[in-house]
Amino acid sequence: MAGLWQNALMPRRINELPSQLINQIAAGEVVERPASVIKELVENSLDAEASRIEVDVAQGGIKQIRVRDNGFGIHPEELALALSRHATSKVRQLADLERIGSLGFRGEALPSMASVSRLSITSRERDAEQAWTLAGDDHQPAPAAHPEGTTIEVRDLFYNTPARRKFLRTDKTEFGHIEQVLRRLALARFDVGFALRHNGREVFSTPAADSLAARERRIADLVGSAFLEHALTFEHAAAGLKLSGWVAEPTFSRSQADMQYFFVNGRIVRDKLVTHGVRQAFQDVLFHGRHPAYVLYLTLDPALVDVNVHPTKHEVRFREGRLVHDFLFRTLHQVLAEVRPSAPAEALAAGEQPAMPMSGPGGAPYQRPMGLGVAESGAGYRASMDWQAPASSAPLGGGQQGATAYAPQPLPQPAAEGDIPPLGFAVAQLHGVYVLAQNAAGMVVVDMHAAHERITYEGFKRAREGEGIKSQPLLVPVSVKVSPREADLAEAEQATFTELGLEVNRLGADTLVVRALPALLRGADAERLLRDVLADLVVHGASSRIGEAINEVLSTMACHGSVRANRRLTLDEMNGLLRDIERTERSGQCNHGRPTWTQLSMTELDKLFLRGR
Ligand SMILES: Nc1ncnc2c1ncn2[C@@H]1O[C@H](COP(=O)(O)OP(=O)(O)OP(=O)(O)O)[C@@H](O)[C@H]1O
Ligand SMILES: [Mg+2]
Repeated sequence: MAGLWQNALMPRRINELPSQLINQIAAGEVVERPASVIKELVENSLDAEASRIEVDVAQGGIKQIRVRDNGFGIHPEELALALSRHATSKVRQLADLERIGSLGFRGEALPSMASVSRLSITSRERDAEQAWTLAGDDHQPAPAAHPEGTTIEVRDLFYNTPARRKFLRTDKTEFGHIEQVLRRLALARFDVGFALRHNGREVFSTPAADSLAARERRIADLVGSAFLEHALTFEHAAAGLKLSGWVAEPTFSRSQADMQYFFVNGRIVRDKLVTHGVRQAFQDVLFHGRHPAYVLYLTLDPALVDVNVHPTKHEVRFREGRLVHDFLFRTLHQVLAEVRPSAPAEALAAGEQPAMPMSGPGGAPYQRPMGLGVAESGAGYRASMDWQAPASSAPLGGGQQGATAYAPQPLPQPAAEGDIPPLGFAVAQLHGVYVLAQNAAGMVVVDMHAAHERITYEGFKRAREGEGIKSQPLLVPVSVKVSPREADLAEAEQATFTELGLEVNRLGADTLVVRALPALLRGADAERLLRDVLADLVVHGASSRIGEAINEVLSTMACHGSVRANRRLTLDEMNGLLRDIERTERSGQCNHGRPTWTQLSMTELDKLFLRGR
């Protein structure tokens, strides 16, 4: 064993490494692929206060990368310094390191890149008469022609480090990474114009965006117009923290976490604490396994965040992590809670806008000859979300027990004449599934099961936080056969059941009896409910996290209480449901993140019938 270590060719002598090798070792950390070169160069341009940055790449950036900016430039005598290790204009002392306002500060990026490529810098300082250029191995800068600003060119990446070169993928893949990096940088700084060209062809060009409309155009270009259409924009500041940006309504969720951009003081970060805080805010409204989409900006005093964690600076450390986490959670939770009908104009934005394929005059017949096409639009929407009913929301077994009466809460005051509530008044019920209502903007269609489920769930949460969930004794207690393990669990979790408004006792080794149900679930199937709650408790109880998972259990229970499809409601019941939706937080989606209602405006209806053309 020892022989392996004591190689005859490697005497145990300590020697200093040559600076080229030191730089190549550092390059191992910061320069992974062409996209990392671009990130470093563009960050330097942003630190130089550029207002326009142009990136040109050839062959996926492997052959050539050129970043040109109109920033403040570099003094000719400092060109060589910029290429030497640990040389930076951005920090001078420890105090600077503790409140970094620039993107760079390590003084490593340029020398690292220069050690693994053929690099040249050309720069003209503001108001200087002349530009100067310096290539990696030159000793003196030479005069050059260049407008104010800096161009850095990196050619033949990893030409001298073949082991690294082997890890590069195809031009196309590498270019994909470049695009992604530049997209993030362009989202970080709306005040700067960006352009990207690949092999001489323009891929994108986005001018500096100085109005909300221009910023949203950039969002639509870089993240997608579908995202923007479903995004809520907001800004909130408290306790020295500011969060702003766009979050997609939960109904526009993704199967991958691929539309999540989070910036801390203008720097894109991937941070566990951030991801967790955001996820938690969505927990209630997102179907399991789906991922939220967002572009968010957190701004705070640089002294409260440490960016000197990792050479690539993708991670940060918050000095008051808990505070930041709770701020993110609370702010987003509130933003999402507002996804409910308010005024007709906003109602349009909050609801799903049905896209109705239409033919031009004289064209092919309508693709949707049947009725309003609204139900279909809803169904299509679901299909595109891969929505599947979770086991616990399967309709209850047949029999009248399954059909829960919808008991509207008493209305405070009948609305004054001519005073139409946001969701309007019910006019009919469609196939026992949808409630149709007329409001100021046009027609509203409500998925009654989904809506009621959300209302019941929010009711449970409110009750639990307030006076507790009220229970109601069953006229005839229901006994249920379970496994001994489940019976043990039920016995051990008496307090949890009570908290949930359920009264469950053990009758024997494998028998439980349900004596009372939550009053909100009047008429629900006690046996199915108990089995589903037990299943939840088995999952969460194993790790004694029931306290945290209680909302999931409540959500399961809410499913049981909801009006089933195919139940006829009276107009009063339907109006009661509409008023409850208006009153309920997060009522834009059911607990699984499906939309609960949608608005169809008169204009949209008119279009369907080619009116007003
Ligand atoms: N485009 C540019 N315009 C003006 N000055 C620049 C530009 N690029 C680099 N510099 C100067 O060169 C110095 C070295 O750049 P380099 O990227 O190596 O280090 P840094 O940005 O200070 O730190 P880091 O290694 O964290 O990026 C910078 O501090 C800056 O003064
Ligand atoms: Mg830098």
